[in-house]
Amino acid sequence: MNTLKETDFVRLYTFIQKKYGINLSKKKQLIEGRLNSTLFSMGFEDFGEYVEYILTQSTEKDIETLLNKLTTNYTYFMREKTHFDFFSNHILPALVKNKKDKVLSIWSAGCSTGQEPYTLSILIKEFLGKDAARWDTRILATDISQKVLLQAQRGVYPAESFKDMPKEWLRTYFTRVGNAEQYEATPELKANVIFRTFNLMDPIKFRIPFDVIFCRNVMIYFNQPTKDALINRFYHSTNPGGYLMIGLSETINKNSTEYKYVMPAIYRKL
Ligand SMILES: C[S@@+](CC[C@H](N)C(=O)[O-])C[C@H]1O[C@@H](n2cnc3c(N)ncnc32)[C@H](O)[C@@H]1O
Repeated sequence: MNTLKETDFVRLYTFIQKKYGINLSKKKQLIEGRLNSTLFSMGFEDFGEYVEYILTQSTEKDIETLLNKLTTNYTYFMREKTHFDFFSNHILPALVKNKKDKVLSIWSAGCSTGQEPYTLSILIKEFLGKDAARWDTRILATDISQKVLLQAQRGVYPAESFKDMPKEWLRTYFTRVGNAEQYEATPELKANVIFRTFNLMDPIKFRIPFDVIFCRNVMIYFNQPTKDALINRFYHSTNPGGYLMIGLSETINKNSTEYKYVMPAIYRKL
């Protein structure tokens, strides 16, 4: 296997961190392992040539391949259930009572293969029941990896992805694909999630602010200044009274944000 020289390693991780926030400064082996085949399929002799190319003349497609390889996309339905319980038991009842425009604006930022936004969509449908038709319940789901977004739009998942989801929901919102232990989201469920490419390092310019932003297990790969700046951008894109949910293993620096702590990994704009 080809190895990365220290200078090439530093150039590559600095480039990735600046443009995409992801801190790979301690992940030399991961980069080598995940990019080795790309290097050869693109016809480069070694990492030196590849890094030089990526930094000076890469196309959008080359960057897409790089991001597909280097992002960590692990996720499953109902991951970190306490957030979803809080969403169903506290946030949804208040939103449904107070939102006169009948628009729920929810963003799954760093949605990976889609299990998080589809879980949210199911919770909303379960909560609203027949009333769902009178609401705009579409969820915005974004990621920088095209590969995971395509999988999310396809909406087909292996049985193990549903291990924490009630069986009844699997029957209602998914259909079994062929003889394989795979399940596909129903067209109705798919239609409720809008998947888009979005780099969280970019300014947030979506049409309306959000009632709830889920950005869970994404910022663990960012350094502190990048994280603080992103949380600040989230804050300015949150409706008053709205929430930010981060991963259960993550924390927010109290002194660098105006969000108020509600409970572990849940913050609110007052
Ligand atoms: C581990 S997954 C988290 C999925 C889901 N939120 C969860 O908690 O299960 C992290 C996702 O963040 C995405 N990501 C990393 N850096 C990003 C950036 N700068 N902009 C947008 N998405 C990013 C990755 O592509 C990956 O799919």
